[in-house]
Amino acid sequence: MTNWQEIAAQRYPTAIADLNSYADLLATLGIERGLIGPREVDRLWERHLLNCAVVADVSEGMVPPESTVVDIGTGAGLPGIVWAITRPDLTVTLVDSMLRRVEFLELAVERLQLGSRVNVVRGRAEDLVGTVSADVVTARAVAPLPRLLTWLGPFVSQGGSIVAFKGQTAVEEISQAGHELAKLGAGSTQVRKCGDWLVQPTVVVQVQDVQSKGGSRRAGYRRR
Ligand SMILES: C[S@@+](CC[C@H](N)C(=O)[O-])C[C@H]1O[C@@H](n2cnc3c(N)ncnc32)[C@H](O)[C@@H]1O
Repeated sequence: MTNWQEIAAQRYPTAIADLNSYADLLATLGIERGLIGPREVDRLWERHLLNCAVVADVSEGMVPPESTVVDIGTGAGLPGIVWAITRPDLTVTLVDSMLRRVEFLELAVERLQLGSRVNVVRGRAEDLVGTVSADVVTARAVAPLPRLLTWLGPFVSQGGSIVAFKGQTAVEEISQAGHELAKLGAGSTQVRKCGDWLVQPTVVVQVQDVQSKGGSRRAGYRRR
């Protein structure tokens, strides 16, 4: 059987200690609090941690150096916490609407000592517009692409991008999101596959050069 934890250690040597701590938290508290299913423990590394990490690899060029990131509907911190661990140059805002998820995220951020670069915000995306913006806005397993774009678009800084985790339905979802894509005035929309060494490479929809109406160029969290 492939040892994905060992592969993670080879691919992310400087991040592996924190990835191990995060995996332990997910496999204990994450299950106790019902944030991930017990069956996920065996596939935590390949299906979740590596699935998220590969998208932010510098070689993919989707998350530029020193970017600010907002992860909408982050749940237990996927992909936001993984990206913050593997990319110490990023500043990340984690957004989720559910209290028990936010409580877990706050604990994880504290245990992993990510507090200087990772901010946790509780709220529904629709209600948080204008409080936070970022160079890269991401979401994984949150909503079909048309609705997701209407949620994510307002958080993108001028000229920034959306990276939406999607599976095999990516192309079909893009064809259903013509209206929402037009409203973003984006430069390009592409389906990207990352981590061709994974059993199932991660598929994302990348929407680049979003023409924001509200976001500032530099980003971060603004309290209302
Ligand atoms: C299926 S989970 C995915 C969690 C994580 N991104 C992952 O890949 O494991 C969807 C998450 O989106 C959050 N969510 C759903 N609607 C939301 C909204 N309108 N605003 C913010 N978070 C939302 C839920 O609370 C939940 O944690």
